[in-house]
Amino acid sequence: MNITPECPEDDSDIERLLDIAFGQDRVGKTVYRLRAGVAPVADLGAVIREDGVLKGSLRFWPVVIGEARVPALLLGPVAVAPADRGKGYARALIWQGLDRARELGYGIVLLVGDEPYYLKFGFTRALTKGLELPGPVDLRRFLGLELRSHALAGVSGMVHRANPDEARAGSLPACESAA
Ligand SMILES: CC(C)(COP(=O)(O)OP(=O)(O)OC[C@H]1O[C@@H](n2cnc3c(N)ncnc32)[C@H](O)[C@@H]1OP(=O)(O)O)[C@@H](O)C(=O)NCCC(=O)NCCS
Repeated sequence: MNITPECPEDDSDIERLLDIAFGQDRVGKTVYRLRAGVAPVADLGAVIREDGVLKGSLRFWPVVIGEARVPALLLGPVAVAPADRGKGYARALIWQGLDRARELGYGIVLLVGDEPYYLKFGFTRALTKGLELPGPVDLRRFLGLELRSHALAGVSGMVHRANPDEARAGSLPACESAA
């Protein structure tokens, strides 16, 4: 399985995959309020392609928590092409993404997703009890992970979009074919 950094030319294929995976109305979800007008973290976007065909993708967005504006990551969207599910693609993308996020110094990762799937990575609802999201969600699906011990201790309040100066600067790497 070949995981590579997301590059600019991946964008249209990723958007198509996300429409298939989540439906075109996905942008109405609360998590999209945290992404609106903010670029995903360039260092963390990753894709899986086979023979040039996009099979899976994962992005992370920068967010901040509470009045203290504690930096965190919002994991997702993660999606795998329907015909390729159950082969471990999402698991590989997520483990690699979390490792890379830790290397980059992030301590907190949040997401809205199915706890039964995300438990194996260590995400729990218990860690987000003191946090709020800026719109309706099924709170059982609002999960957190500490990449650094006790990174969420004492952290509470609303999760906000990151301002440009709080988001990790950087741009996507050039595509290999364009290099
Ligand atoms: C969820 C998704 C990304 C998983 O991709 P994948 O590459 O098939 O996942 P993996 O191969 O790593 O893991 C598959 C395993 O997770 C399980 N699984 C998948 N989705 C699950 C869910 N929502 N809840 C619980 N378990 C789930 C599968 O049953 C399978 O179990 P097994 O290993 O015991 O057979 C993919 O199904 C997808 O794109 N779904 C639509 C978009 C989506 O829901 N994204 C996640 C948002 S929360």
